[in-house]
This record gives sequence, structure tokens and C-alpha cells, in this order.
Amino acid sequence: MQPKAVYPDLAGRSVFITGGGSGIGAALTRAFALQGSRVAFVDIALDESEALVESCREDEVEHPPLFIPCDLRDIGALRAAVERAGERHGDITVLLNNAAHDERHAVDRVTPEYWDDRMAVNQRPVFFAAQAVLPQMQRAGGGSIVNFGSVSWKLRQGGMPAYTMAKASIHGLTRGLARDFGKQGIRVNTLVPGWVMTERQLRLWVTPAAEKEIEAGQVLAGRVMPEHIAEMALFLASDAAAMCSAQEFVVDGGWT
Ligand SMILES: NC(=O)c1ccc[n+]([C@@H]2O[C@H](COP(=O)([O-])OP(=O)(O)OC[C@H]3O[C@@H](n4cnc5c(N)ncnc54)[C@H](O)[C@@H]3O)[C@@H](O)[C@H]2O)c1
Repeated sequence: MQPKAVYPDLAGRSVFITGGGSGIGAALTRAFALQGSRVAFVDIALDESEALVESCREDEVEHPPLFIPCDLRDIGALRAAVERAGERHGDITVLLNNAAHDERHAVDRVTPEYWDDRMAVNQRPVFFAAQAVLPQMQRAGGGSIVNFGSVSWKLRQGGMPAYTMAKASIHGLTRGLARDFGKQGIRVNTLVPGWVMTERQLRLWVTPAAEKEIEAGQVLAGRVMPEHIAEMALFLASDAAAMCSAQEFVVDGGWT
């Protein structure tokens, strides 16, 4: 689907997306590619990521996205991917820290090792990706970092405390980094998706009872789709958001 808005300053930009191969990330990858950005994305979902690159080629985007297989739990691999993307596309000026995994876990089954693994997926790479792109954004004279939060903890959702803690902590990281990076023209914001109807969410969790919950919670009718999240990410990445930093931008149909 074509994005509703076109941001001329995003054409040719070097954009790095974590978890850009499926779900919301795939909508981000496509939306930025359709703006003419040079997108590099990392993911562990090989088949879906390769299919996405192919489908962007079929859309005849000017710069087909570059897929770099990478497990974000490996910070060395993440750093190498950021370097490679910068070498291929020029200094990265947009970082979308999108990857996460909302695996459910009962409180009594959580071990210290499991807890650390959830942080290694949902929290740690957000900081280390920002650290890795910093020299490139400094060289380029500025940039935009978008960290992905979640309404889950705001809605007091249970069944995944490691995830909700990691997602809540993203707000603190955003506000701290926004201060550290701001003088260098680098904006840092949190994008908070509502309950977004990705294929995975529909397959695993969106039961008829959940549909009723969405209807009761959202003030807007209809469903929040990955493309709605991508529209906000495009705005935050572009110069249209020039004086927006250290804030959270919620796209949840008015639920929270
Ligand atoms: N879908 C929703 O309803 C919803 C709601 C609130 C917040 N969010 C947030 O939006 C973002 C995207 O959500 P989504 O629903 O598309 O998630 P998802 O789980 O469907 O997809 C995330 C992507 O990250 C990749 N990924 C997972 N672990 C990885 C790892 N170790 N290394 C590299 N890549 C990895 C996955 O393969 C996938 O492509 C996340 O930050 C999530 O917390 C989503």
C-alpha cells in the first residue's frame, strides 16, 4: 500500500530498521522504500525477509532494501550490520528500533537465564543500535531515532512481565538519549503502537473476545494496521518533525 504522505527529504536517506522483515517492520521497510529511502534491515526471519525484498523489487522501488541476517542478541553482529549498511548506503540518518518479541511467560516459570534472554531481545539492542549509529549520524550532521514502545504495559496487560518491563524502559532510554544526542541534531522519540493487526497477532491472539476488547477500548472504529504505524514513523523520521524529540507518539485508535 502506498503511504498517504510523501516526504521529499526521505528520498535517498540511509535508513536502518531492526526486525524489518515481518509484521510492523515489513510495513516500515516497504513504506521507506516507497519514499525512495535506502533501507537496510536486520532480522532472523530469513524466508519472510527475502520474500519482502523480492516484493519491494516487484513494486519497482528505486532502491530495493538490503536484508542483513542478524540475531540482535549478538551485539557484535548488530554493530557489524550497522557498519555494513553505512558503507553500502552512506551514513545512516534514520534508525528504527522496531524488533521485539512478545512471547508469553508465566511468572513461576521465569528463570534468570530466561529473563536475561528477553532483555537481550527486547531491550539491550535498542541502546546498542543507537550507540552504533551515533558516529554516522554525527558525520551526517543529525538524524532521527525512533524507539518502539507498547501500549501493553499502559493497559496493565499480564502474562509477559519481562516484555512489559522492557517496553516500559524504552521511554526512559528515549528521554535520556534525547538529551545526550540533541545538541548534535539527533532527535530521539518513542513510537507507541496500539494493538496492531499483524498476521502474527491475528494468528495467535485476536480471538472473538479480543475483538470485543478492542471495540470497547478504542475510541475509533476499525483496526490499527501496520501501515498506520509506518505513517507515524515516516513523519518522525522526516524533517517535518524537526522540533520533536524526547516524546512519545501513540497510534492506538485512542485506547490509552
Ligand atoms: N503488533 C502489536 O500489536 C504491537 C503492539 C504494541 C507494540 N508493538 C511493538 O511494535 C514492534 C513490532 O511489533 P510486531 O508485532 O511487528 O512484532 P513481531 O514479533 O511480529 O515482529 C518483530 C520482528 O523482529 C524480528 N525479530 C525477533 N527477534 C529478533 C532477533 N533476536 N533478532 C533479529 N530480529 C528479531 C522478527 O523476526 C520480526 O520480523 C515491536 O517493538 C513491538 O513491541 C507491537
